[in-house]
Amino acid sequence: MYQLFFRLFFTRMDPERAHHLAFGWIRRAAQVPVLRTFLAAALAPRYKELRVEAFGRRMHGPFGLAAGFDKNAVVIDGMTMLGFDHVEIGTVTAQPQPGNPKKRLFRLVPDRALINRMGFNNDGSASVAARLAARNPVFPTTLGVNIGKTKIVPESEAIGDYVTSTERLARHADYLVVNVSSPNTPGLRNLQAVDHLRPLLTAVREAADRTVTDRRVPLLVKIAPDLADEDVDAVADLAVELGLDGIIATNTTIAREGLGLTSDPAVVKETGGLSGAPVKQRSLEVLRRLYARVGDKITLIGVGGIETAEDAWQRILAGATLVQGYSAFIYQGPFWCRSIHKGLAARLRTSPYATLADAVGAEHKKVTA
Ligand SMILES: Cc1cc2nc3c(=O)[nH]c(=O)nc-3n(C[C@H](O)[C@H](O)[C@H](O)COP(=O)(O)O)c2cc1C
Repeated sequence: MYQLFFRLFFTRMDPERAHHLAFGWIRRAAQVPVLRTFLAAALAPRYKELRVEAFGRRMHGPFGLAAGFDKNAVVIDGMTMLGFDHVEIGTVTAQPQPGNPKKRLFRLVPDRALINRMGFNNDGSASVAARLAARNPVFPTTLGVNIGKTKIVPESEAIGDYVTSTERLARHADYLVVNVSSPNTPGLRNLQAVDHLRPLLTAVREAADRTVTDRRVPLLVKIAPDLADEDVDAVADLAVELGLDGIIATNTTIAREGLGLTSDPAVVKETGGLSGAPVKQRSLEVLRRLYARVGDKITLIGVGGIETAEDAWQRILAGATLVQGYSAFIYQGPFWCRSIHKGLAARLRTSPYATLADAVGAEHKKVTA
């Protein structure tokens, strides 16, 4: 049904316009009490067996919305209503910025993929913090806040920029993510090098502790699938050394591998980050590598090309405590979370594992047993 609607309606529309339209519908639906209760019951069924604990929080399930969909924290209830067990807002930057010129979002329908060069279009951390402070949540959820660098701020002043956003946003975050992996802010991904990452993460940790004194805000870093294997290892080691709470693997890729022959070559050539099915394999490899390195010492979030319950299950077996998605939501629509939850619960029931936590990293434990 959604697939037909997508083909007949959304594919004829500019992808960013379609995004804003769908976004508006979800937001408005979540504002109508009867409708949102009905939709949440239909689309966000809760399975007891999928309950997980992460970052000291009990969560309804492992499946969340990846950063970038709700950059300004305006549709958190709407996405919870659709079944996402956690919602990561952002990327938010210290200064408001318009992002790159349009057109900046492209569909590769035959490859079930997207290319984007949005460039962190967002209202800035002061506005987003004010919105979060005024928020009166309808549905309880776990809220991730993802921060990045303002484009016009030089790399040499990046730390101050992240610290400003941390000071404004950390108090509203159930977990905070330092994004150093988007390909659309020049120089941003250089911050993944350990020499840059160490002072950055240390400063953000200190800023979070200084501004939020009644609890410890969990801190994560989000990395690119394009890192060389030894750099993935280096980030993993640094995360353990600094006592980070987690790593999110992965962001979009600048590679153009894994594409079929049917997507429009002109679109394939567009600059930006590729997401969806083609990034699946590398995201899974990076996750595996991270888990082999850090084990259960820190929490891993698997993201990149997750389309089905089987994909999500594979990430959990590979070491992810939580999983996220974005691109497949565009292609599969409002019933997507429901099918992921249903399929995950079915897999867990027929698996040798009593709980989802037992399944985390099980693939690795089998290999090393
Ligand atoms: C249009 C678009 C915008 C995105 N914006 C952000 C962002 O602002 N910050 C971020 O950390 N990731 C961003 N991402 C990356 C996603 O969070 C995710 O890591 C990536 O798309 C891989 O997951 P997927 O294959 O399920 O889409 C964006 C992705 C898309 C498609």
